Amino acid sequence: CGIVGILGKADVAGQLVDALKRLEYRGYDSAGVATLIDGGLVSRRAEGKLRNLEAKLEQSPLAGTSGIGHTRWATHGAPSVRNAHPHATTRVAVVHNGIIENFLELRAEVEARGCRLESDTDTEVVAHLITLDLQAGKTPREAVAATLHRLKGAFSFAILFAGEDDLMIGARRGSPLAVGHGDGEMYLGSDAIALAPFTDRITYLEEGDWAVLTRRGVEIFDENDRPVERRETATSAAATLVDKGNFRHFMAKEIHEQPEVLGHTLSRYLDLTQSKTVLPKGAEFDFASCERLVISACGTAYYAGLIGKYWFETIARLPVDIDIASEFRYREVPVKAGDLALFVSQSGETADTLASLRYCKAQGMKIGAVVNVPESTIAREADFVFPTIAGREIGVASTKAFVCQLAVLASLAVHAGRVRGTISDEREAELVRMLAEIPAYAVKALRHEVEVEQLAQPLSKSQHVLYLGRGTSFPLAMEGALKLKEISYIHAEGYAAGELKHGPIALIDETMPVVIVAPYDGVFEKTVSNMQEVAARGGRIILITDQRGAEESGLQAWKTIVLPDVPAFIAPIVHAIPVQLLAYHTAVFMGTDVDQPRNLAKSVTVE
Ligand code: G6P
Repeated sequence: CGIVGILGKADVAGQLVDALKRLEYRGYDSAGVATLIDGGLVSRRAEGKLRNLEAKLEQSPLAGTSGIGHTRWATHGAPSVRNAHPHATTRVAVVHNGIIENFLELRAEVEARGCRLESDTDTEVVAHLITLDLQAGKTPREAVAATLHRLKGAFSFAILFAGEDDLMIGARRGSPLAVGHGDGEMYLGSDAIALAPFTDRITYLEEGDWAVLTRRGVEIFDENDRPVERRETATSAAATLVDKGNFRHFMAKEIHEQPEVLGHTLSRYLDLTQSKTVLPKGAEFDFASCERLVISACGTAYYAGLIGKYWFETIARLPVDIDIASEFRYREVPVKAGDLALFVSQSGETADTLASLRYCKAQGMKIGAVVNVPESTIAREADFVFPTIAGREIGVASTKAFVCQLAVLASLAVHAGRVRGTISDEREAELVRMLAEIPAYAVKALRHEVEVEQLAQPLSKSQHVLYLGRGTSFPLAMEGALKLKEISYIHAEGYAAGELKHGPIALIDETMPVVIVAPYDGVFEKTVSNMQEVAARGGRIILITDQRGAEESGLQAWKTIVLPDVPAFIAPIVHAIPVQLLAYHTAVFMGTDVDQPRNLAKSVTVE
């Protein structure tokens, strides 16, 4: 969920909605705003996308110079107007990101004390707890402090009080919150990007902090309610909202931006005059000192990490322990202090990834972050930031950030190989040349769009699709399946091609499309054998390969996409493109909401 709060000079509803647009990546199940009008709390809330709230506000505009807003990704309670934030009593309105773990117990308590709850959310109980304290004679700040001490879980809040036009309280525990400083105006936001149109002067609250804002400034307290000083910083979060250009969807635009953003990203990691890899400034981790690398991430970023594992292990002989962050964080992984833990995240805000980072930090590991948002929490908490320069990614299904993550991981693996002495300078130069050619290969891969698009119609008729790959194509097969299910809602699974015979082969018949990602690499012939097994059982093979692979496979696939020959090392980055296009065009053909598919959020800030 995304939260925002403004103590402004003029009516703030419009600004709240502007900020929420920038936070929609955190969820779009419902949205709402509340302002103070003549000292009374008034709210507008709507189910679904933000545009529904905008339409409501057009019909019945909302005055008020103090306000809070929210865009929701549902956890407790279905996405409905009733469960949309802000949650309010007559005394207080609350917007909340995160989960209150002891809410059932607190709910029972406030109900026993006579409160009537109107929603199924864990948030409403907070509004009631504060209200009960206010009724008992506490001041707003005393009431909030007392309530915060009673809550378990990870959350952030923005809170507005009836009759208090120059007061807003924010709190952060486990979920980020930024204070924005304006000129006679003050702001709260889940991230600096939300506040970018209003101010670039940001104070990030630290874990456990809560903040009392008036138009003159902010007072910050720590988890023990002691006043603390937190630094104000200037952020570079871009103020402009990106647009779709000539593309029908952000996802299409982002797929087509890949050659360019890959170039930008690689330029930070390659020194072409020396034919060497370089580390970004401030991120000079000594890979020679590392015995084992830990990688953790979620979703698409996790698949990038999995491909990275192949590279680090083969090129740098560096063992990699990789896990999805929601498992890693509770697995009590034994790690070695001083080794590097790498967290891969487009947004830098994913709750599980952040929790894994903190676990590794507490164990004394060095923290590296492969992130796309430099102001993000994960970037700020890392010791070494390895940026992807993908630009803002709007489509919920990650594309350009994914290939840039791969470019960074590949470059880091080559760098690690050189400093660890597992590759020679000549080999490094050779690999650097391959990396430098990625943007050109990406351009060539995009030229196959029309061919891929022709597969969308037949694929859209399928109930299930299987994706297979070996080596670095195995994680790519899983990523392909994830892309397809995310945006077309067709069930898809990605499997290691060699694992086919241990189960999924039972699913194969004439109705089952099997997408096989098989560049001509060291395991190509093995994959071909698995293809034969599919063909023998009548499965419909869609083969994504290169010229050499098409020649050598000796097999008539149902459809074949033939990319130009590409060095096996960089093949997953190039082959990602037809895989993305296949999911995209299938979804477009089916008429789904490609950029904001149902039930998903761009960044999941709850666990
Ligand atoms: C969500 C998105 C995915 C993304 C994952 C991790 O599930 O829908 O596209 O891969 O989060 O996000 P991150 O921002 O950490 O890369």
